[in-house]
Amino acid sequence: MNQTILYAEHVSKSYNGKKDKVTKALDDMNFDLNKGEIHSLLGPNGAGKTTLIKIMATLLAKDKGTVNIMGFDLDKSEREIRHLLGYVGQDTERSAYARLTAKENLHFFGSMRGLAKEEIDKQIDKLVTYLGFEENMSKQFMHLSGGQKQIVVLMRSLLHSPPIIFLDEPTKGLDPIIAKKIRRFLVDLVKKEGKTLLLTSHILSEVDEMSDRVSLIHKGKIAITDTPDALKESVGVTDFIEIERNGMSIDIINRIKNLDVVVSHVERNDWDSFGVSDPFDGTQAILGILKETNSRVRFKHKSVSLEDAFIHHIGMLEESFDK
Ligand SMILES: Nc1ncnc2c1ncn2[C@@H]1O[C@H](COP(=O)(O)OP(=O)(O)OP(=O)(O)O)[C@@H](O)[C@H]1O
Ligand SMILES: [Mg+2]
Repeated sequence: MNQTILYAEHVSKSYNGKKDKVTKALDDMNFDLNKGEIHSLLGPNGAGKTTLIKIMATLLAKDKGTVNIMGFDLDKSEREIRHLLGYVGQDTERSAYARLTAKENLHFFGSMRGLAKEEIDKQIDKLVTYLGFEENMSKQFMHLSGGQKQIVVLMRSLLHSPPIIFLDEPTKGLDPIIAKKIRRFLVDLVKKEGKTLLLTSHILSEVDEMSDRVSLIHKGKIAITDTPDALKESVGVTDFIEIERNGMSIDIINRIKNLDVVVSHVERNDWDSFGVSDPFDGTQAILGILKETNSRVRFKHKSVSLEDAFIHHIGMLEESFDK
């Protein structure tokens, strides 16, 4: 049974910009987290992901609505809630003191949390060993690379062993090896220590690999919440078969389009992309036509990705908005 560890109900937030321009960032939003899950927030730039996370992390005041975290009401128990959360924001640069070393920063922020020195050392040891970060601990924060700073800030958020962790684009700008290491570390943390993780990322392969559930935010509301697989399935095709247009007649393209197994067709640059409802039957039928017409064209096969699902759903949402 899934146990809800956090819920937000009817949360709204507007920002007042220049010349009385009001931006509605969250519009009567409902959201929940299950204990022990990795949950990702997806959505176009400006959809409201950071706003939601900051509100739940007690860093930004909401206009309306309720947030409850492990039984504590955000409006009444901010202090308690802060103990339950680890938070890494989008702005890594400003999340630690430039002139302090990585280690000094962690000690400073640990003691601000009320942790004893031994406790902090113990936690730092564990994190540093896991992340292979020993040699950077005595460097000043300002002398670390972007990715190394990201790791320090991540460690900072975990010092007090919070049960719930919010990470706003934790692997942004990281090289693929560090990013992978962080992903593994986070998945381990959730699976072995029973933590709950909420993250945002624009790297959809990463979201697909890590997440138990994904919520798609659109214009300040949660549009869909589901597993990555279910989101991909709801695109309505299982695979795309792509054929280079050069050398193909309209006749052949139409014959392929009319196959029962072909559900969609889009032109992508020099390629025709056919969405099929079954990978095996689709490939066989399309190859059959190419063979029969002696069309020796370049041919690609692609399974539906979370990126396809994202584009599909955002496209549908925009359409229904425009109507
Ligand atoms: N401090 C602010 N003042 C005014 N408007 C703001 C402020 N912060 C965010 N907004 C606006 O609120 C909306 C939601 O922004 P938010 O940062 O939550 O988006 P996001 O989903 O995190 O986007 P991204 O993927 O780019 O990080 C946007 O339209 C943004 O312009
Ligand atoms: Mg953001």
